Amino acid sequence: MCGIFGMIGANAVGNTLQALKYLEYRGYDSAGVAARVGDEIHIYKSAGRIQNLERLLPKGVESNIAIGHTRWATHGAVSTENAHPFYSPNKHFAVVHNGIIENYLTLKSQLSARGAKFSSQTDSETVAHLLQSNYSGNVLGTVLATANSLVGSFAIAVTSTYDSNLYAIKNKSPLVVGVSGKCVYLCSDIRCVSHWAEKVAVTPDETVVVVGDKGVYFFDFEGKMKEVSFFTTDAAEEMEQVDGDFMLKEIYEVPTKIRLAKEGYFKDGGLNIDSETVRRFTRIYLIGCGTAYNSGLQIAAVARKLIDIDILPVIASEFIYDSYPCGTDTLALFISQSGETADTIRAAEKVRKLGGYTYAVTNTKTSQLSFVCNKVANIYAGGEFAVASTKAYNCQLVTLLLLMLDIARIRQTLDDKVYAEIVDGLDALPMAIEQILSNSYEIATIAEKVKDSSAVFYIGRTCDYPTACEGSLKLKEISYIHSEAYPAGELKHGTLALMEKGVTVVAISTDGELKEKMSSSMNEVATRGADVVSVSPYTFQDALCITLPKVHTALYGIVSVVPLQLLAYYVAKRLGRDVDKPRNLAKSVTVE
Ligand code: M6R
Repeated sequence: MCGIFGMIGANAVGNTLQALKYLEYRGYDSAGVAARVGDEIHIYKSAGRIQNLERLLPKGVESNIAIGHTRWATHGAVSTENAHPFYSPNKHFAVVHNGIIENYLTLKSQLSARGAKFSSQTDSETVAHLLQSNYSGNVLGTVLATANSLVGSFAIAVTSTYDSNLYAIKNKSPLVVGVSGKCVYLCSDIRCVSHWAEKVAVTPDETVVVVGDKGVYFFDFEGKMKEVSFFTTDAAEEMEQVDGDFMLKEIYEVPTKIRLAKEGYFKDGGLNIDSETVRRFTRIYLIGCGTAYNSGLQIAAVARKLIDIDILPVIASEFIYDSYPCGTDTLALFISQSGETADTIRAAEKVRKLGGYTYAVTNTKTSQLSFVCNKVANIYAGGEFAVASTKAYNCQLVTLLLLMLDIARIRQTLDDKVYAEIVDGLDALPMAIEQILSNSYEIATIAEKVKDSSAVFYIGRTCDYPTACEGSLKLKEISYIHSEAYPAGELKHGTLALMEKGVTVVAISTDGELKEKMSSSMNEVATRGADVVSVSPYTFQDALCITLPKVHTALYGIVSVVPLQLLAYYVAKRLGRDVDKPRNLAKSVTVE
């Protein structure tokens, strides 16, 4: 949700443009660059995709200092005037910002009372005005004064004509600093910085960063120097570019990544909570948003059969404002691919405050969420850049399941034989998923029919209901077809009224004992005119059948979602959608 970049070093404008292409997954409403050219700052910005910015950037702008931005609009419409960077009125400062300045209306009215004129509707422009108004002849002092008047979440990069440093202010929005020889980079995403930097540092909250000829310095908001350590980056964390769609590439990576998720879990030592603490827990929350919530829903359905305490999946934004019981007897697992999702981080902060044990399950071990939580499990999905999450979901399921199995063993509610069957069963999944992928043309053919549906309902019972939720989310977010998921038995309590010709129902049915019940649900919708697609190891009359390979019952969720990921992808492609960057969305949702 907005990406910022800044650098000091050769080819600053070219590299900033390149970085913005990497960061575009964070927002694609507009993009812009500010470059120090001689004694001036030149700003180039445009609404829409990076290509629009690229077209208006003059070739070969010579600059050693540049900052850039990709926007996901929060305050102010999608327009060039609301695009970052923003000048201060005297053009001596330029800023880019990711986050929300919560007190911007107060600041704006104070500045307006002193005659300031704003050119945008954004909260971010306030920062540029504040810098000018606070300028005292010393840029660091000015940046510190500005930092102290801001409330909210922000990663801000600042360039000024008064000196040749680059500055950043960071609180609650991600900011990584990278160094390679004489070049220094500021960026929202560690994977992007890893592309250039040999060493990186994750900037802590309430920090001002100064990048200059003499190196990189970190200060708290009082101006006291801070020690922040740099570490060598992992090549696996580098960002990539692909010729086709990231989403399809990422679905095809599922078999490899789930293998890595399992290996990584054991390599990292498993659950890593002492047995006495685990026995003390009386409830487990699985908290996340969107796809991450669905993975919690899925694992809760599996783990309820294995563990003797309450296991509750909760949507993070609901957890923050509701009154779920929580104390020292509570384990809360926070699931987030990015580790940046504001709702999930706020929920983790709440659990910490209430004395609960917080555990991050994330794809980004250096993320804000990881710092908030007591423990972190890495899901090892590798960089995921399509807005629609795919491989991260499968890897979340593997990691969460292994965590639950460890808890069950410590609490002695799972015998060794069943444990071994499930853990060994994981090894069969990559091949099972390869089998589905090799038949993707069948799913593409079904997509051809589904694409004309007026609405698509996904149904399933118990462990298949979360898969229905995830399939439905995938379809609606990238195809824009109306879609809902229901427990199959619930249809007859209202939703059946919507069944008619033109509607498609996708039925997930992996539990042999519930097969007949699912068959009845399919008949009920088919007799009312809906087309039915089944996703199952069994076949059903009058349905287009996507056949699943047989796997351990506890593991079906990891496999049965793959045809649904492919179905969503092919439907969206056939409708001509931008599958990697669906309208109105962004990959990281860093605002509540
Ligand atoms: O980075 P997170 O896992 O915390 O993101 C949570 C959701 O925003 C995310 O899963 C979203 O629902 C995806 N776009 C779904 O494909």
